[in-house]
Amino acid sequence: MSHPAPRACGIDFGTSNSTVACMRAGAATLLPLEDGRITLPSVVFFNAEDDRTRFGRAGLNDYLAGYEGRLMRSLKSLLGSSLIDGSTEVNGRALKFRELLQQFIAELRRRATQENGGDLEHVVIGRPVFFVDDDPVADKQAENTLAEIARAVGFRDISFQYEPIAAAFHYETTISDEQLVLVADIGGGTSDFSVIRLSPTRAQHIDRQADLLANGGVHVGGTDFDRLLSLDSVMPLLGYRSRLKSSLEMPSNIFFNLATWHTINSAYTRQVYAEQRELSLEAQEPDKVARLLTLIDKRAGHWLANEVELGKIALSDQECATLRLDYLQAGLAQGITRRDFDAATEPLVGRVETTVNALLRDAGIAADAIDTILFTGGSSGIPRLRERIAALLPQARAVECDPFGSIGAGLAVEAARRYR
Ligand SMILES: Nc1ncnc2c1ncn2[C@@H]1O[C@H](COP(=O)(O)OP(=O)(O)OP(=O)(O)O)[C@@H](O)[C@H]1O
Ligand SMILES: [Mg+2]
Repeated sequence: MSHPAPRACGIDFGTSNSTVACMRAGAATLLPLEDGRITLPSVVFFNAEDDRTRFGRAGLNDYLAGYEGRLMRSLKSLLGSSLIDGSTEVNGRALKFRELLQQFIAELRRRATQENGGDLEHVVIGRPVFFVDDDPVADKQAENTLAEIARAVGFRDISFQYEPIAAAFHYETTISDEQLVLVADIGGGTSDFSVIRLSPTRAQHIDRQADLLANGGVHVGGTDFDRLLSLDSVMPLLGYRSRLKSSLEMPSNIFFNLATWHTINSAYTRQVYAEQRELSLEAQEPDKVARLLTLIDKRAGHWLANEVELGKIALSDQECATLRLDYLQAGLAQGITRRDFDAATEPLVGRVETTVNALLRDAGIAADAIDTILFTGGSSGIPRLRERIAALLPQARAVECDPFGSIGAGLAVEAARRYR
């Protein structure tokens, strides 16, 4: 017997990757969103050559293939930032950032609806524990903005759930005993944690407040590891930390912007180019600044950030890797090592550790009371970060779940509970 298409879904709108899931025949099912894959990378490319907008891998590939246009990544980082009410120039037109987010979410819904075979009216959207650290008003505004966008693209009932809780609900569908679980969701933009009591019986309850012991999070994610790796290993090749003839350091702003996914485009203005040209005349190492000018000229900031990200991912299972930078200068390459990466990113690991410790302390939970640590999110693949989190919970068994699918799947479980 065929069932009518579900009307409720979960959306995990991630800094790096997004998913949509529905319940089908009692099981959370991630919908294929691009070429049969369950993630749509949170990427928009405005191709200036054919005046079309492309999303996900197709957008990134167009950009990397050298098409003229404007690439946008880390869209979620705009929520809760002061940029959200502003706009950016895209192929000669002003595009509001809000509109950019709306285009992406509309595309997610369009693909999911098509795959679902029926309209999706109700949605539970995942959210980080904090869109904005230490600012509840801005945090609420970020959630409201996302809700307004979801309504504008056609959803009727919209609610939210913390991303790590969603991952917990998905894991709960696979267990047969009761466990006290700390979920560690280390994504592209944020690290989020929940401590929650899970069991098959508890899974039947609609209200789970009593099972939820604590939530916490911090704005540290994979894109921050990319930034520090970039500043440590490739930005110096472009003049970062080099000196001017006056013996002052090159101004560092441009390097920070180029190393940060959602500010890369700000380096592509005429004014910035002119300033850097001026500086190159004053530079003690003009060859390096020449590379910077080439990078700006070729609009290659996202290409470079992508190389750095791939290098970072390679370091998750290798001790060293090589970044090939021929696109910038023939023969240019930069070796990176796990050891240097760990040293450069230590402050991030420290902030995540502090967050977990504070969470346990504030909730009055003894570290050895936790039975299970559930790792999810792509950045849970960073070996040092994972080891250090696990070391805080000496009695806990570490469990893996699909790092890119578990949150969307858990949101579908929650959507079915809320909108049945
Ligand atoms: N094997 C790996 N080792 C280290 N990092 C990885 C690995 N695979 C992916 N990543 C990183 O994981 C991040 C993306 O993870 P994920 O898709 O879970 O994030 P997200 O859900 O989009 O972000 P957020 O939840 O913070 O909004 C990227 O920064 C990516 O570079
Ligand atoms: Mg995520």
